[in-house]
Amino acid sequence: MIKKAILPVAGLGTRFLPATKAQPKEMLPVFDTPAIQFIVEEAVAAGIEEIIIVIGPGKSAIKNHFEPAPELESILEARGKLKELEIVRHISSMANFHYVQQDEPLGDGHAILCAEDFLEADESVVVLFGDDLVDNEAGKNAVEQLLSIYQEKSEPVILLNKIQPEETKKYGVVGLDEQETQQVKINKFIEKPEPEEAPSDLGVVGKFILTPEIITLLKQQKAGSDGEIRLAQAFDQYLQGGEALWGKVLEGQRFDTGDKQGFLAATLHYAKKHL
Ligand code: UTP
Repeated sequence: MIKKAILPVAGLGTRFLPATKAQPKEMLPVFDTPAIQFIVEEAVAAGIEEIIIVIGPGKSAIKNHFEPAPELESILEARGKLKELEIVRHISSMANFHYVQQDEPLGDGHAILCAEDFLEADESVVVLFGDDLVDNEAGKNAVEQLLSIYQEKSEPVILLNKIQPEETKKYGVVGLDEQETQQVKINKFIEKPEPEEAPSDLGVVGKFILTPEIITLLKQQKAGSDGEIRLAQAFDQYLQGGEALWGKVLEGQRFDTGDKQGFLAATLHYAKKHL
């Protein structure tokens, strides 16, 4: 059973400036809850117990959020604000939290490798980016959906979502071998293609299960011309080696909160649920 999740959240969040100048984008409230809390809750609901957060310099707000707040808790208790006390206690008691710093934003792949010391050599791990929220109220959450394929295959799994042609340049897009309902075998992974070069209409959502083979390949990657090492490079090499990579077409509603429109849609969605 996979018990650990890595959350690489050390990116600069340039698409959300000026809000992200002095605070991490993952702490921006989606209505009343920071995006990263939704992501941790999703992992915990799927049985993850250890949360490893890769933070950038100056992103201590994330760590503060998940740490106990004894002073606030005792004031809430003394004032009889028990509902609020429960809200605050829930955050720090959900899981065991670990932190590691990525000193420079050298790519999502590099950020994942910063957390490598928390993994055993033969251990698979859930990786969740800070941007993607999925709500599947009626059924399994996104991490549970990934885990159900991993439990059957013991091979890496990527969450996928149908995208419009004009969106291909924002996401990784995959090519497919075979498709059985919502589970696909991936044979190609192209980062941000032009619409005419996109091998399908399935875009990559930032939720993955990585096996030790992917971590090994990630360690072999060199930085691209932009100085970044990306997870997509390791998947690409893995596929070139003829290995099996699975995709799960997500069930539920997806919000890309790294994008201003997606953030607004998520805020409206969760406001309706939480009000
Ligand atoms: P993104 O490319 O979506 O995030 O990275 P970003 O770089 O923060 O955003 P923009 O494009 O500048 O607005 C995907 C995930 O990888 C993390 C991000 O925090 C996000 O969760 N990441 C990215 C790192 O942890 N380190 C990096 O060097 C780059």
